[in-house]
Amino acid sequence: MPLATDTMRSHFPALREGAAHFDAPGGSLVPAVVAQAVADTLASAVNQRGTFTVADRRTTEVVRNARLAVADLLGADPGGVVFGRSMTQLTFDFARALAKTWNPGDEIVVTRLDHDANVRPWVYAAESAGATLRWVDFDPETSELTVADVEAQLTDRTRLVAITAASNLIGTRPPIKQIAEKVHARGALLYVDGVHHSAHAFVDIAEIGADFYACSPYKFCGPHVGVVAASPSLLETLNPDKLLPSANTVPERFELGTPSWELMAGTTAAVDFLAGVGGPSNAPRRERLASSMAVIAEHEDALRDFIEAELAQHPRITIYSRAQDRTPTLLFTVDGMDSCEVSSRLGELNINVPASNFYAIEASRRLGLGDAGGLRIGLAPYSSADDADRLLAGLRSII
Ligand SMILES: Cc1ncc(COP(=O)(O)O)c(C=O)c1O
Repeated sequence: MPLATDTMRSHFPALREGAAHFDAPGGSLVPAVVAQAVADTLASAVNQRGTFTVADRRTTEVVRNARLAVADLLGADPGGVVFGRSMTQLTFDFARALAKTWNPGDEIVVTRLDHDANVRPWVYAAESAGATLRWVDFDPETSELTVADVEAQLTDRTRLVAITAASNLIGTRPPIKQIAEKVHARGALLYVDGVHHSAHAFVDIAEIGADFYACSPYKFCGPHVGVVAASPSLLETLNPDKLLPSANTVPERFELGTPSWELMAGTTAAVDFLAGVGGPSNAPRRERLASSMAVIAEHEDALRDFIEAELAQHPRITIYSRAQDRTPTLLFTVDGMDSCEVSSRLGELNINVPASNFYAIEASRRLGLGDAGGLRIGLAPYSSADDADRLLAGLRSII
């Protein structure tokens, strides 16, 4: 079933502002149902979790529903779904908690393809534990990061590998499942950054072998909040710093302070919204999500292929997104023009194409783009052929 673009777009109030949005990898727009769920939760009586009052029970229910929703989205155990302010904050927290289990001489592996949120927390954590940091590179010519690239950095001292499921800069999807097998064969853990990947694919964390899987609902039509999913039994082995009286149960022990109930409710609404994209059905939500994400991927990939083919014909444009398996995200530069200038001139035409290293700073440097990065075209379920035409016409008028 092809995605019904007009119906899809009608759900997003922000589209009425008239911009053509290619900025979803920085944060997608939100459908009205998600905004409503956040507002409704804020406008209702919620308090702390408990059973004595309506407010207590409602709060408990909001949390329960949010964990169930994320579990359906990722194929996770709801008892291992941890909410936090952002993926960055959660990864710093998990890195600190995991570092308590490392010894001097242990080895931690990070990649130059990753967003810095899945690099720097491990750099600091390794340093604090006296562990050795090892780097995996990707090939800037092909954009690929291979199993062999990771394997070359694994030893019997490897304790953890942190790697992205998809690069937010160039879209590359490394072969996570095969990488997980190699990592587990060494007895190490795999921490997967699924922030960019989760917006574009059906995820099954057990299938791919992620011990920890991080994502951010604001990248898939939800509110600004972060999530890490892991098995409850693995979480039980970790002892993060926490307040003495706060719950020591899993996953609560990882959620410092009072969580944002309204954003949890918004996350549930976002997952329900995505589950509905594949059309009405009585199938369980996870099955509907599988169909929906296939519909979304087909729509986004077709638009990406169209845009990419047009860009490729322009002699002054260089495209850096070259991996075989990748998201609908294109990084490019224009010869002789500053990316920020191109972005700003497109912005004057109400076309949102940001320019940056997008915090994938190691990847940007590896590509030879320094800290400036390039222009990023990112697609979302609400992206349309008309948006693509506006973009290409806008670019033609500028370069
Ligand atoms: C691939 C990737 N990882 C991590 C992050 C950081 O996520 P958060 O903003 O939730 O900390 C981002 C944000 O852009 C991202 O794209």
